[in-house]
Amino acid sequence: MIVLGVETSCDETSVAVVKNGKEVLANIVYTQIKFHQEYGGVVPEVASRHHIRKITLVFEEALRVAKIKPEDIDLVAVTTHPGLIGSLIVGINAAKAFALAHNIKFIGVDHIKGHIYANYIESDFHFPLLALVVSGGHTELILMSDHYRFKVLGQTLDDAVGECYDKVGRVMGLVYPAGALVDKLAHQGNPTYKLPLIYLDKDNYDFSFSGLKSAVINLLNTAKMKNEEVNLVDLAASFQNSAVRVLVDKTIHAAKEFQVRQIIIAGGVAANLGLRKSLAEKVNELDNCFLSYPSIKYCTDNAAMIAVAGYFKFLDEERK
Ligand code: KG4
Ligand code: ZN
Repeated sequence: MIVLGVETSCDETSVAVVKNGKEVLANIVYTQIKFHQEYGGVVPEVASRHHIRKITLVFEEALRVAKIKPEDIDLVAVTTHPGLIGSLIVGINAAKAFALAHNIKFIGVDHIKGHIYANYIESDFHFPLLALVVSGGHTELILMSDHYRFKVLGQTLDDAVGECYDKVGRVMGLVYPAGALVDKLAHQGNPTYKLPLIYLDKDNYDFSFSGLKSAVINLLNTAKMKNEEVNLVDLAASFQNSAVRVLVDKTIHAAKEFQVRQIIIAGGVAANLGLRKSLAEKVNELDNCFLSYPSIKYCTDNAAMIAVAGYFKFLDEERK
């Protein structure tokens, strides 16, 4: 079964072609990051306009790279939510028009489920499975009992962890999106600054990152007022240490409670080397459980993951 995936929920215009939920025949990602960098974050209006400009070209490129014709496609899958409404509409309209024009079945996909299914491209799923979803817009722990069966165990009550990385990076003077740069700096420093570890209630799986973000901003502001030097690599290491520890501890707690066979990391922050390393160490201590995470290119927004999620959603609906 050949699925064409479309993703335009934020600042990446992407179209992919995936065979049987695994074999990526094409995954074209046009990133608009450079247009948003001067504003320090994504400007929704600017994002919509770039999607409109690029979507047709990205469609054509995906078909060319995959070496397929529209009549070879069995299903069109598109991100319908969550995301920037103006950006989503561009992808949804393009996907619907393409499906209608070529008489192909059409399915809408939740972006978060796409991030989860990015893992399936390189690793099979073993249930029960626990997904730690960490992106610029989301921080969630999701339990899967089977394909396309999701239960949200907990989520952030305020900032998403990726958003927190981006804001902390911004006050440190780094360009948007700063997550990968903060991660890089963190590996050059030591966690010498005392920053809060915010667990909320130890027994639930919700998160809160705004206090950690404020603590970093306050530390930098206070140092500036007192004319004191801040060691930025040590600050990055301290921040990463606090953020990662809470994510890892809650994930391991849930893995034990629900006796999961597999843990996956999903979303842009799944690229974080500190998170991957810490979680791998803790998962090694568990019996009958293994960790997987996508290659960097499948961590951030891409349409291959939407095609895979669309494929499994379609199979699930056929089963009903
Ligand atoms: O999943 P994604 O592409 O977009 C959303 O759906 O939100 O995630 C983007 C987020 C950004 O906040 C970016 O700073 C963060 O992922 N990110 C990282 C790393 N690479 C990307 N955060 C921490 N460490 C990284 N290595
Ligand atoms: Zn995303």
